Amino acid sequence: MKFFRISVVPMIGAALALGACDAAAPVHRPDPARGHALYDAHCASCHGADLTGQPDWRRRKADGRLPAPPHDASGHTWHHPMDMLFAMTRNGLVPPLAPAGYQTDMPAFAGTLSDDEIRDVLAYIESTWPESIRAERAKRFGASGR
Ligand code: HEC
Repeated sequence: MKFFRISVVPMIGAALALGACDAAAPVHRPDPARGHALYDAHCASCHGADLTGQPDWRRRKADGRLPAPPHDASGHTWHHPMDMLFAMTRNGLVPPLAPAGYQTDMPAFAGTLSDDEIRDVLAYIESTWPESIRAERAKRFGASGR
């Protein structure tokens, strides 16, 4: 009887815990390594394999559009909370993130990348930022950088 109590009761507990996990919505933990590969395939052509953006990225091109900015510490990607970066990447630069009809070369990736893949790409970009920038983001947006 003693054996029964110490061995079976924890197993029932474990089974209940597993059941509870199954019932919960799956939580995606962003994967920077997967994000790196997706970045190379979908973002590097404009934002640069080394995240340095296009040359002279602050100056509008002849067509009036802005070049792709860097995603590294020299750009302004890190100035924005993660939710905004997600929305920009998923939906493109449309209201409320840009004026209606805003002309830009930045594509919307909804339909090309899943929401989880977008989170992976952004986790990769975030993983390249130095500690000083992460600390500044934590100050501005809270510990999660949202
Ligand atoms: C065809 C070129 C092109 C590709 C490919 C591209 N971008 Fe962009 N992206 C741009 C341009 C150009 C801008 C600047 C748009 C503007 O301000 O008008 C931009 C801006 C952004 C911004 C806003 C940055 C800021 O500081 O405001 C984010 C975030 C971004 N891109 C993420 C991505 C991600 C992630 C990918 C890959 C999944 C990607 N981009 C692929 C051209 C591109």
